[in-house]
Amino acid sequence: MVASKYAIFLFLPKFAILIMHLPETINSPIIHTNLRQLYIESYGCAMNFSDSEIIGSIMAEHGFEFTNDEFNADVIFLNTCAIRDNAEQKIRDRLKHLRGNKKKNKELIIGVLGCMAERLKSKLLEEEKLVDLVAGPDAYRDLPKLVAEVEDGNKAINVLLSREETYAEISPLRLNTNGISAFVSIMRGCDNMCSFCVVPFTRGRERSRDAESIVNEVKVLSDSGYKEVILLGQNVDSYLWFGGGPKVEFKNASEDVKANAVTFDQLLEMVALVNPSMRIRFSTSHPKDISDEVLFTMKKYDNICKHIHLPAQSGSTRLLEAMNRTYSREWYMEKHRRILEIMPDCSISCDIISGFCSETDEDHKETLSLMEACQFEFSYMYKYSERPGTLAAKKMTDDVPEEIKSSRLTEIIYLQSKLSLENNKSYIGKTVRVLADGLSKKSDLDLTGRNEQNAKVVFPKSTYNIGDFVDVLIERVTTTSLIGIAVD
Ligand code: SAH
Ligand code: SF4
Ligand code: F3S
Repeated sequence: MVASKYAIFLFLPKFAILIMHLPETINSPIIHTNLRQLYIESYGCAMNFSDSEIIGSIMAEHGFEFTNDEFNADVIFLNTCAIRDNAEQKIRDRLKHLRGNKKKNKELIIGVLGCMAERLKSKLLEEEKLVDLVAGPDAYRDLPKLVAEVEDGNKAINVLLSREETYAEISPLRLNTNGISAFVSIMRGCDNMCSFCVVPFTRGRERSRDAESIVNEVKVLSDSGYKEVILLGQNVDSYLWFGGGPKVEFKNASEDVKANAVTFDQLLEMVALVNPSMRIRFSTSHPKDISDEVLFTMKKYDNICKHIHLPAQSGSTRLLEAMNRTYSREWYMEKHRRILEIMPDCSISCDIISGFCSETDEDHKETLSLMEACQFEFSYMYKYSERPGTLAAKKMTDDVPEEIKSSRLTEIIYLQSKLSLENNKSYIGKTVRVLADGLSKKSDLDLTGRNEQNAKVVFPKSTYNIGDFVDVLIERVTTTSLIGIAVD
């Protein structure tokens, strides 16, 4: 994946493989004998990684424990992504490899879950003979039953999408965790229908999770020593809890229900108040929905990190219209300006698609100039990949030649590297507060962490530990990191 190499992001790199391993001691509150072994790999966005923790919880309640040895597994789940063709190709390659596992263990059950499962439905069972089980993102409560069906000698599938499911009361098993930072899912689905995007089809209608269950989950995390939560949704700013059901029904709700509804700024405040020393992050924001109320709430609470991931997708108003993003270039830039007016220290990152249907050189130049004007701290950058069933696939032509998509993407990546480096240089000589979240990959003598603005910081470990908040004086920088020393 081109983008993950160039972007710094608060989440795991997209398409990284997460091997879930759960210490047996916290695995299951129920004493089981003959626990079956479950191995899960997660692909795609943070929502999928968060879902795997819900799947973990459901399966642990039904007699499974986790293994990080795929050859020792009774059940292998791939929690998949469908956002671009190459994401699905990766899964097909992985499934080919898994043939070997199945040869060694005839009883092995292989399940495909997540967005690719939802998109391809029973086709997956037909095309990929190896797959025994298919489950979409709203069908995870059904997984133990689906596994039992396979054990009875059948193929099993549930790809029903729900208007209500939020897994609100399921307490996710924190898998592969550093014990410092945790995802908290606050909503599911998306109602936006950007013309290029498959998510509304794979994750269904937008629905928000009960605010009280979110706050309770954050309290539990805080009590367990977590130092940071990341509130997740495809479109967090449109969060609206009013007692359940899709947001579209809100207008028919009674005045009483409306008066008690919780909006995203209110939820942010409730979460920020759980523990003033716990960092709060959120992603992703749609430019059309992020409100002044959200910005003022961010400003009001020191523990809400000053970083907004605000995907523009393109700098050309004509293309933004074709993408059905519902804002123009000028509107985006005004939102960007407003964020910085309210919070001058806020960092803003972006997603960009190169080579969307009918994109001209002129459109591409407008994207580059938007990036220059906004000086994004970092971006995820992608080549447009047509997704069957989307508005763009039905109504538009994927007419930008592959070489042009690639050369434009290279220019976009080159520009972003320059902007990231310039932005990072502005930290030299300054002291930033870092939450240490791991050892540096290059040296065990260094810690890494992130500052409030989500820039990666590396500094000598000295006497500090993972989980500490450390003030670091920045001495030098690269495109992707700030490097410095801890100061007392
Ligand atoms: N809900 C988030 C994005 C979710 S998908 C939002 O609206 O911002 C993450 C990113 O993948 C998108 O922002 C977009 O840049 C990219 N993406 C989505 N569909 C794509 C496609 N068909 N081809 C290339 N990139 C795509
Ligand atoms: Fe896809 Fe648009 Fe929804 Fe994001 S807001 S998930 S890009 S449809
Ligand atoms: Fe991929 Fe589904 Fe996320 S398509 S990006 S895993 S919502």
